[in-house]
Amino acid sequence: MGYLELAETLARSAGSLIRKRMVEPIVEEEKSSSFDVVTEVDKEAEQWIRQGIHDQFPDHGFLGEEEAYVSGKSLQSVLSEAAEKPFLWIVDPIDGTSNFVQGIPGFTVSIALAINGELAVGVVYDPCADELFSAEKGRGAFLNGKPILVSEKEQLNTSVVATGFPSDMASRLAVYNGLGKLLQQCRTIRSLGSAARHLAYVAAGRLDGFWENGLKCWDMAAGVLLVQEAGGQITDSSGSSFQLTTSDIVSSNGRIHAQLLDCVE
Ligand code: IPD
Ligand code: CA
Repeated sequence: MGYLELAETLARSAGSLIRKRMVEPIVEEEKSSSFDVVTEVDKEAEQWIRQGIHDQFPDHGFLGEEEAYVSGKSLQSVLSEAAEKPFLWIVDPIDGTSNFVQGIPGFTVSIALAINGELAVGVVYDPCADELFSAEKGRGAFLNGKPILVSEKEQLNTSVVATGFPSDMASRLAVYNGLGKLLQQCRTIRSLGSAARHLAYVAAGRLDGFWENGLKCWDMAAGVLLVQEAGGQITDSSGSSFQLTTSDIVSSNGRIHAQLLDCVE
């Protein structure tokens, strides 16, 4: 099985496992604070994906949100250990856990593969909508197998952009400041509860842009490749190119990128 096919298969199977668990009472645990939660379903889905990758590619590296948290190591040290592996899978088993625990559809499974530090495969799956967004470096981006492109909006005043609310307070306040400026300039703003879904929607032209502060690579890696392959632009909030260590992300159709950068911190 190829890398993309494996990512798609695991995203779909993990998504169906997660969706089935939506009807059961879910025990949530707090991570860094009451703003940051995890459930046993996040852990089970991550384990399922990890095992599926290991079965096919036992030498590949794996960086999953929940395992990284349990290790107690800083993101920086987890990333530098992971960077030693030429093939690194970067996984968020449920992006949008707050949606999941509240019973709100719209959480996603996010699976990316970086080869020698470059994003090569990205898959974001929304199990409630049965929408699978996928991209392979140099081969375009797709939604359920059909090619997608970013939007053609040129101006913020006709654009719909999205953001999210990170768990750490400094990043949350930075988002708040960006919101204050963008609410005066954009047609409207959405917050759908999953950074990976926001990025997939920028790739599909449903959103014209998305920014958020304080994200981690597992929230963004797959979605970043989707946006790039759909013809959009990704930078950090100072306009520099995206790295796996980037936490403040700005993504857009490219045409409104400079205008968006002017408004965010
Ligand atoms: C969260 C989601 C949310 C974003 C938060 C992330 P998680 O990821 O992507 O949209 O606003 O900053 O932490 O915790 O549900 O995987
Ligand atoms: Ca998550």
